[in-house]
Amino acid sequence: MSAEDADSIAIGEPLMELTDLHRTFMMGDEEVRALRGVNFTITKGEYVCIIGPSGSGKSTMMYVLGCLDTPSQGSYRLAGYEVAELDDPELAALRNRYIGFVFQAFNLIPRTTTVDNVALPLRYAGVGVRERRKRAEEALTRVGLGHRLDHTPDRLSGGERQRVAIARAIVTKPELLLCDEPTGNLDSRVGAEITKLFEDLNSELGVTVVIVTHDPNLAKRAKRNIKLVDGQVVYDGPPQEGR
Ligand SMILES: Nc1ncnc2c1ncn2[C@@H]1O[C@H](COP(=O)(O)OP(=O)(O)O)[C@@H](O)[C@H]1O
Ligand SMILES: [Mg+2]
Repeated sequence: MSAEDADSIAIGEPLMELTDLHRTFMMGDEEVRALRGVNFTITKGEYVCIIGPSGSGKSTMMYVLGCLDTPSQGSYRLAGYEVAELDDPELAALRNRYIGFVFQAFNLIPRTTTVDNVALPLRYAGVGVRERRKRAEEALTRVGLGHRLDHTPDRLSGGERQRVAIARAIVTKPELLLCDEPTGNLDSRVGAEITKLFEDLNSELGVTVVIVTHDPNLAKRAKRNIKLVDGQVVYDGPPQEGR
């Protein structure tokens, strides 16, 4: 399942398929049913925001979609792989091959230059040092930070840090950008710039974008919104005012 040997998925083909998916946690003797019977398919090239009130299951969904957690019941297929059947090294390989993660808190390595932060996933993928630098520079240029290659994160603004995190997520050329509240730590002007960047990456690179968010300004720019309430899908369609 390395980046080189896996077939990439064509635009419009199913990338993520959830069938009657449940995730239940045990809290002492009590069952917490965080996801209860979720069904949807996201195809390659889509741009989706998953929305819903606090406690509705968004973070749980993000972990399952990102293969950081597995369903208690039901099916999640990513790129045709039944995630529940894979062991930890296989899940890690699937994540590395298919998914770039973007988190609210950026999660950059301090005292390490932007180019080295962005190149890190390529090191795990076994890419040589010169090629890593070249691809990291390309990714940083793509997000508008070609002039900040040798800065450390503490010398960057919040918006620039999130751009570095996005460059790190796209440097492996993933099929899926999976984002958790990517505008949550940014003011609205900078949030709007990051929102625009996701739109551009989706339309220009064809990368599937799935974002878990509270931010209505971000959600309304996606092509599709999936709304969760109490662990179930209550709306799945184009963005609607007031949702
Ligand atoms: N690891 C866990 N153990 C027990 N309960 C959990 C765990 N993770 C989430 N939950 C519960 O599952 C429900 C959904 O939580 P979560 O997915 O974090 O919602 P959201 O991100 O939409 O706020 C909540 O009731 C939460 O308390
Ligand atoms: Mg959450």
